[in-house]
Amino acid sequence: MKKYLLLFIMILTTVGVLVACSGSGEMNHDDMGEQHENMDEKDMDHDAMTEDEMDHESMSGDEMDHGSEHEEHGGLQNLKSTTGENELGIPVALESEDAKDTVYTIRAQKGKTEIYKGVKADTFGYNGAFMGPMLKFKTGEKVKINLVNELEEETTFHWHGLEVPADVDGGPHDTLKPGERRTIEFQVQQDAATLWFHPHPEGSTSEQVYKGLAGLIYIEDEVSLQLGLPQEYGVNDFPLIIQDKKFDEDSQLNYADAKNTDGTTGDTILINGTVNPKLTVRDEKVRLRLVNGSNARNFTFKLNTNEPFTQIATDGGLLNEPVTLKELTLSPSERAEIIIDFSKFSEEHMSLVDDEGIDILQFHQSGETGTATNLPGKMSSFSLSTKESGLPVSKRIELFGMMDQVTINGKKFDHDRIDFEQEKGVTEIWEIYNKPDGMGGMIHPFHIHGTQFKIVSRDGENPQKNEMGWKDSISIAPGETVKIAVKFEHEGIYMFHCHILEHEDNGMMGQVMVN
Ligand code: C2O
Ligand code: CU
Ligand code: CU
Repeated sequence: MKKYLLLFIMILTTVGVLVACSGSGEMNHDDMGEQHENMDEKDMDHDAMTEDEMDHESMSGDEMDHGSEHEEHGGLQNLKSTTGENELGIPVALESEDAKDTVYTIRAQKGKTEIYKGVKADTFGYNGAFMGPMLKFKTGEKVKINLVNELEEETTFHWHGLEVPADVDGGPHDTLKPGERRTIEFQVQQDAATLWFHPHPEGSTSEQVYKGLAGLIYIEDEVSLQLGLPQEYGVNDFPLIIQDKKFDEDSQLNYADAKNTDGTTGDTILINGTVNPKLTVRDEKVRLRLVNGSNARNFTFKLNTNEPFTQIATDGGLLNEPVTLKELTLSPSERAEIIIDFSKFSEEHMSLVDDEGIDILQFHQSGETGTATNLPGKMSSFSLSTKESGLPVSKRIELFGMMDQVTINGKKFDHDRIDFEQEKGVTEIWEIYNKPDGMGGMIHPFHIHGTQFKIVSRDGENPQKNEMGWKDSISIAPGETVKIAVKFEHEGIYMFHCHILEHEDNGMMGQVMVN
């Protein structure tokens, strides 16, 4: 019975998509006014599809409850399915400026971007008008980065997930004034991973990220390169920085207009800055490095066919073994690398969807044969020892509140207050509790700077297999208590905070001093 229902929904969705596609076929106008008309048309198509979506939602009472819960917590915007009319943009892999050493220059800039064809939007970007490049680091090497702030406001350059001394971490203490430049140097000391970088100025992180400041870091090491995983950048190894944004009537990313103090969400998906993306793939295993770069939205990823895929990496590196999944949830700032084997599929329409069946990224299979790659049985040697998991809790953190009333241990961020101290090189157990409020509460993605940690338990249970790996952010549900094993390899003052960027800006952040 359920199968037929599913089939019926799939047919409805297909019809919906066909309607949407035929609509977008007429979209090639060069006139800005007409572009607007078209966007209205698209909205209308969307409205026409809502009936299907409603049918879909009425299938499960759970989902409806879920929806209304969100509303009480400040209105989660409904996402529109992507039409797949634009090939996905791939961030430029930045070349080192030095033949021998790794030297990069990163400029925070503002500019204008045709996110929708024919309409220029005001945006921020690194080394360009919108979004940022991919920086490649090798484990063990020294890296030098010249930072330039070409914005008309303060910013910082934060390396999310990188284990570096606090004075180069780019937290809210490390602001660069408009026009200011600085050079930082550090040594890369962690395993292969997909990290990212973004600004972190106190109180305006959310707006700067929203406008487009987000870039990628790929760390490579000898071991990971020898595994035979797909690793041809932009060919069978693709980063996907997934964000939801809202465009105003003038097709602008108007943060003031879109802003929600409880976490800004939008109705439009952008991946690597591309709206309505499709990704052309060959018949081969394809590696997708998912980065939830949104201000506040939790994404649950699935394939529209409900086929399984394989997760190979967490925030901070490869899992010990591949984990087969049918769905995967990432809260803001979390990453996961997955492999989809397209040599096994020849569907008309394959896409990455969210838990409500909304197309996030459509795939187009070119039919070409790709490169033979490997999905190795063993990839890493991550472990949590009984000694580590048996350590007593030495730091307690309580996350509480919503909107601008968010706190950590009842306090708001104060850049002059040190909340915790920890010794360098010593593992401590942090226990984090997400205290529900009168309306149930909400997920808070908890992040620590300058370290990769291990999840010890969630409500006393072992973590799921796909969370048994290095993490720098952890999604914590209302009422949930997690224990994590945290060790810092460098000294200085590091932030820990909720990665709903509006919560962070509203003071849901603290500082740990590592000596
Ligand atoms: Cu992704 Cu404090 O940051
Ligand atoms: Cu960070
Ligand atoms: Cu939060």
